[in-house]
Amino acid sequence: MTVSLYLFVISLFVLVVYLVLKSVEYSFCVFHGQIPFVPSAGRLRRAVVNEINSHYAYMQTACDIGAGYGGLARCVSRKCGKRVWALESMPMTAAILWVLNLFSFGRVKTVWCDAFEYLKTSDGFDIGIAYLGPGVNWRLREYSEKFRVLITLDVPIDGLHPVRTIDVGRGFTRYGRKKFPHRLFVYEL
Ligand SMILES: C[S@@+](CC[C@H](N)C(=O)[O-])C[C@H]1O[C@@H](n2cnc3c(N)ncnc32)[C@H](O)[C@@H]1O
Repeated sequence: MTVSLYLFVISLFVLVVYLVLKSVEYSFCVFHGQIPFVPSAGRLRRAVVNEINSHYAYMQTACDIGAGYGGLARCVSRKCGKRVWALESMPMTAAILWVLNLFSFGRVKTVWCDAFEYLKTSDGFDIGIAYLGPGVNWRLREYSEKFRVLITLDVPIDGLHPVRTIDVGRGFTRYGRKKFPHRLFVYEL
C-alpha cells in the first residue's frame, strides 16, 4: 500500500514538473516567434517517407531541423534507412528527444542547439526536413547550400521554387489565424 502511494506521488510529481516545464517552453517559443513542439501528423510523416524512398533512396544523411521528440526523425531513419541528425533548441524537449533516440541504436543523433547556428558550421546533409512555420521557414533560404534536398511541411520557403508540391490530403496546421493545409514542398538545391 505504502509503496503504491509513493509511486503514485512520484508519478504525480514528475507529471506536474513535465507540464510546468512544457508550459515554460511553450511560452518562450510563442514570445520569441518560434514554433513550439507540435508533432507532425502521421499522414505527413508517411508522405515524407514516400517522397524520400521514391526520389532520394540513394542519399545517406538527413537532418530534422527542429526535431521535437524526434518521431519524424526516427521514422525517416527506420523507414528510409538514413542516418539522421535531430536538431532541437528547447532543453526539456531535447532531453526527451535524447532519451527516445537511445532506442534508435545510434541511427539518430540528438543535437541540442539552435538549428541555424549549428548549420552555419556543419558540413551539410543530403536531405533537410523542416516543420517550422511561416515565421521561420524563410531563414532556410540562407542555408540552401547545406542541403541537396529540402523538404518543408505545410509551409513553402519564400523565394525558392519547389520541384514538387505534394498534397497530403485532409488536415492542416494553424499558424495564428491562418490554416495551412497538409502539403510537402520539395526543393532540389
Ligand atoms: C512543429 S515541431 C516539429 C517536430 C518534428 N520535426 C515533427 O515533425 O514531429 C518544431 C520543433 O522545432 C523546434 N525549433 C524551432 N526553432 C528551432 C531552432 N531555431 N533550432 C532548433 N529547434 C527549433 C521547436 O522547439 C519544436 O520542437
